[in-house]
Amino acid sequence: MNEFIVYIVAIILTVKIAPIMDFQHIETKRLLLRPVTTADVHDFFELDSNPKVHVFLEKKPVKSIEESAQMVADILQQYKTNGLGRLAIINKKTNEFIGWAGLKYEKILRKEFNYYDLGYRLKEQFWGKGYATEAAIASLDYGFKDLKLKEIGAAADVDHLASNAILKKIGMPVSGTFTYKNELCNWYNLKNPYL
Ligand SMILES: CC(C)(COP(=O)(O)OP(=O)(O)OC[C@H]1O[C@@H](n2cnc3c(N)ncnc32)[C@H](O)[C@@H]1OP(=O)(O)O)[C@@H](O)C(=O)NCCC(=O)NCCS
Repeated sequence: MNEFIVYIVAIILTVKIAPIMDFQHIETKRLLLRPVTTADVHDFFELDSNPKVHVFLEKKPVKSIEESAQMVADILQQYKTNGLGRLAIINKKTNEFIGWAGLKYEKILRKEFNYYDLGYRLKEQFWGKGYATEAAIASLDYGFKDLKLKEIGAAADVDHLASNAILKKIGMPVSGTFTYKNELCNWYNLKNPYL
């Protein structure tokens, strides 16, 4: 009898836990998007300590590994609280950590409302190879088809040519501008075409 109960509990746990453990593994032609882990902290530090990466992100590159550890911890917390969060971008061929991309439940950027934000941030040596575009398309697809989100938003400083180019290329329409910390940003918003 005890064995039977253990068996039933094991099944229930497997069914309940499996989607959480498996969530957010996305594969594209060249990339694997997988959940961030604490083992990524050094890669986050390499990414975010580069001032060029932060030109359109308040110009505040991180100065210590502890700041990167906090960023990773925040993402892990978002997975738990919101059921989604940014994902690490891995080169499938070389296994290199390229950066991060994906969705985040954003509560700060727009004063007027919360929304699901599409974003990306890559180490400088990987820019200009179409990786951000590839990851962004897969993230939109995941958000709309798998998570069935009603809409996804995105923002880019009006002077950030690369980011604006990506958002337009993947089919996100601009629907105005807003100001965040004195910087004028384009606001992009796309409704789920599958609903
Ligand atoms: C923005 C960022 C993610 C772009 O990554 P990426 O992998 O180089 O982007 P992609 O190669 O997929 O696409 C970039 C597009 O912008 C275009 N682009 C790049 N620089 C440009 C410029 N100065 N002027 C005009 N277009 C530009 C590219 O030509 C390309 O478009 P195309 O494919 O039609 O030619 C990367 O530079 C980055 O991580 N920057 C720092 C973090 C950041 O700013 N994140 C975004 C915040 S909104």
